[in-house]
Amino acid sequence: MTFETSIKRGDICLLPFPFDNLASRQKRPALALSSADEYGEIIFAFITASSNSSSTSIKLEAEHYENNFTPLPHSGYLHINQHVRLNQNIVIKKISRLTDRFLEYLFRQLILQHIPAFSEIKYKSTPFTPTLQHIPVSGKVLGDRELTLLVESSLDGWLTTGRFNKAFEKKLGQFIGVKHLLTTNSGSSANLLALAALTSPKLGDRALKPGDEIITVAAGFPTTVNPALQYGLIPVFVDVELGTYNIDTDKITSAISDKTRAIMLAHTLGNAFNLDVIIHLARKHNLWVIEDCCDALGTTYSPSRALTDYKGKPIEIGKSYHVGTFGDIGTLSFYPAHHITMGEGGAVFTNSGILKPIIESFRDWGRDCYCAPGEDNSCGKRFCWQLGDLPKGYDHKYSYSHVGYNLKITDMQAAVGLAQLDQLEAFIEKRRANFSYLYNALNDLKDKIILPKATQNCNPSWFGFPITIREHADKKRVDLLQHLDSKNIGSRLIFAGNLIRQPYFENQPHRIVDNLTNTDLVMNNSLWIGLGPMLNKEMLDFMISELKAFFQS
Ligand SMILES: Cc1ncc(COP(=O)(O)O)c(C=O)c1O
Repeated sequence: MTFETSIKRGDICLLPFPFDNLASRQKRPALALSSADEYGEIIFAFITASSNSSSTSIKLEAEHYENNFTPLPHSGYLHINQHVRLNQNIVIKKISRLTDRFLEYLFRQLILQHIPAFSEIKYKSTPFTPTLQHIPVSGKVLGDRELTLLVESSLDGWLTTGRFNKAFEKKLGQFIGVKHLLTTNSGSSANLLALAALTSPKLGDRALKPGDEIITVAAGFPTTVNPALQYGLIPVFVDVELGTYNIDTDKITSAISDKTRAIMLAHTLGNAFNLDVIIHLARKHNLWVIEDCCDALGTTYSPSRALTDYKGKPIEIGKSYHVGTFGDIGTLSFYPAHHITMGEGGAVFTNSGILKPIIESFRDWGRDCYCAPGEDNSCGKRFCWQLGDLPKGYDHKYSYSHVGYNLKITDMQAAVGLAQLDQLEAFIEKRRANFSYLYNALNDLKDKIILPKATQNCNPSWFGFPITIREHADKKRVDLLQHLDSKNIGSRLIFAGNLIRQPYFENQPHRIVDNLTNTDLVMNNSLWIGLGPMLNKEMLDFMISELKAFFQS
């Protein structure tokens, strides 16, 4: 065995102990974590024969040693937290060397080990001070797991969609109970992909075409409706119910014309629309259904009538299913306001094996190939395809079947999302508990405000707590918004209120069924306040007391 003269990171050296040449009584192995600096000093980590049973001890195995270097005679434990800076002159000799692969692992652990302490400081909760401290309507709840996975994914250096995304898609798909789930860079992109997929020529006669009608509502978020406009479809607006803020199903039958091909609706603020009616009508009239679940992750619905799924198979009556699994495609958003976050992000999910590769194709440049980033021949016949007018055997990786986009996410986003999934059940529980708390306390105001009402058969995973000021209450919404604002209590409108009254909607093709009276009332009199997991009892109590003060003044 030969050693180079200078000590390098990764060398195992014998050191005198205590660290003093003259008084040396024992010799101890230690791992050089650095080369010598300008003063000849090296950082060493200790190796002992026993573990200190903490996660900061790593057992050295035979495969951790560089080829041609002899492992330590007794199995050693490296103590990554026990460092000392010593001059290279006291080194007795170099005795072995660890692999770069092991060093990469070791430095990863060294980087990650301080994240819990950092996180504890950064996310320390402080006692709530009414008025001085803002009560948000929504917002991210992060902890050490999110930061750890975020840093891990960065250290991978993979950057694009990778192992964290794969794990996230699988885990979230299992949670929802859906066969295929694909991430994308926002909820708006998810909606765009869902609608785009339904225009694919691969769907033959069922493909959506410009001029086709799509039933929706105007009281909601613009990007639930915009994809229809972007693909030349005509949105047909049906009014909403107050309380549930979902489509008024009594009016939906009269919305159906011989041009109707699809229904695209959001489950408003986490409260499902009436799936019994919508799915029944969709199957009867052969309509596609896109469920925008951006605000409804965790919401379940138990049908009370006989329904069938996209393949015509019966859906069990009374059994609870996640929203998004009744129609053809469901969508999600992971913007920080939502149930879980990854900063920016979204997902499209479906049980259909036909729609899945189409959605993926639109997301990934329109390509026909479905290899994951970094893979080259998943189909096993990369050079055997004959598509379009391309020569036979044209590389499948560069064959395109759709006018596509690139709407993928990075692995850092997926890593944060993956950590958030560990908290999802608790988040949903807290949202439901906060909803009940607010609901019970605000019941006194029911002659002044319309309280939210869960759709029958639905167990909402609430996004916010909507209220509508009753017309006879003699209170203006703008005054309420200002009152809440002056007390540092966050509030939001029900998104665009009435979409067709937004500046961008001028000259957009659309049809209105009957009238949008309630939609206008939502635009004028409704708002929502927060109930997310970041809100504690003191905050809820303050919100309640300020709402009461406003309405009882
Ligand atoms: C119902 C609904 N759909 C879609 C979106 C868009 O999601 P994103 O902000 O991720 O694009 C939102 C945003 O909050 C939403 O509330």
